[in-house]
Amino acid sequence: MDFQVRYREYAEEFERALLEFCDKMQFLPERLKESMRYSLTIGGKRLRPVLFLSALDMFGLDWKKELNIAIAIECIHTYSLIHDDLPAMDNDDFRRGKPSNHKMFGEAHAILAGDALLNLAYSMMFAESARGEEYLRAARYLCDAAGAGGMIAGQSADLLYTANQDASEEELRFVYDHKTGKLIVAPLVMAAMIAGVHSLDLEKFGEALGSLFQLTDDILDEKGDETLGKTLGKDKASDKLTIVKLYGLNASELQADLLAERCRLLLEPIERDTEFFRLLVDYVRMRKK
Ligand code: IPE
Ligand code: IPE
Ligand code: MG
Ligand code: MG
Ligand code: MG
Repeated sequence: MDFQVRYREYAEEFERALLEFCDKMQFLPERLKESMRYSLTIGGKRLRPVLFLSALDMFGLDWKKELNIAIAIECIHTYSLIHDDLPAMDNDDFRRGKPSNHKMFGEAHAILAGDALLNLAYSMMFAESARGEEYLRAARYLCDAAGAGGMIAGQSADLLYTANQDASEEELRFVYDHKTGKLIVAPLVMAAMIAGVHSLDLEKFGEALGSLFQLTDDILDEKGDETLGKTLGKDKASDKLTIVKLYGLNASELQADLLAERCRLLLEPIERDTEFFRLLVDYVRMRKK
């Protein structure tokens, strides 16, 4: 299987649907709409939509029928990035290789654009829920994964453990599992829910993949280059709790290799064609952005 070709197939179909969706957005004032559109369309790997669509594909469903849900997932992720970059949070001027939302539209509109994207995502999930119980369950799952027991909990912990010299591996694990893991597990579990299949093995894989993703994010903050599209060295400068802070770069790389191997092992009990996900583990481990 050519991994790049498959990834691009999902991502390009998603991109096409997203642009069509953005073109139809009719919100006023124009500035609000533009700030929402800006962050949605300036790029990004589209990992969470790709996870969702490829998992549907693995379960034998017609993934092209579920692009609205993929958009809702990406709206929530994008909102989390806009707010993550705000001066009150990570205070980061760059995102996806461009000025971050508040640098373009001001802090107040960055807050509002994030709020609006979150509400938009729920509106879309409510609409999808009318299609049946399995869609309703998936909507609820996404809502919880993004909320106070999910991504937001992780962001809260991330801030609380910043410049905290007592925080250790246990706290780091909480941050990883919540701020990043929850929204990486969600697309996989949602696909399983829509397919009506039991998803425990896939959920375990998603949890490990989420950790691997944040581990490599922390490593890239330290040793990445401008392809990353974000300010480099930001975590060290802010004294964030990261794997690199706890163990140094070399040990972090080793942990990432071990975790990648664990991800591959966790795919084994899944009695489906998991080749794409096996290759995705290498992609996440080796990524430059
Ligand atoms: C960045 O996510 C935030 C983290 C969870 C580390 P991505 O690295 O997936 O960001 P985009 O969507 O590709 O810009
Ligand atoms: C952010 O983690 C995770 C979320 C936005 C939920 P980071 O703060 O490490 O992400 P980047 O490095 O700014 O993308
Ligand atoms: Mg952050
Ligand atoms: Mg950040
Ligand atoms: Mg980071």
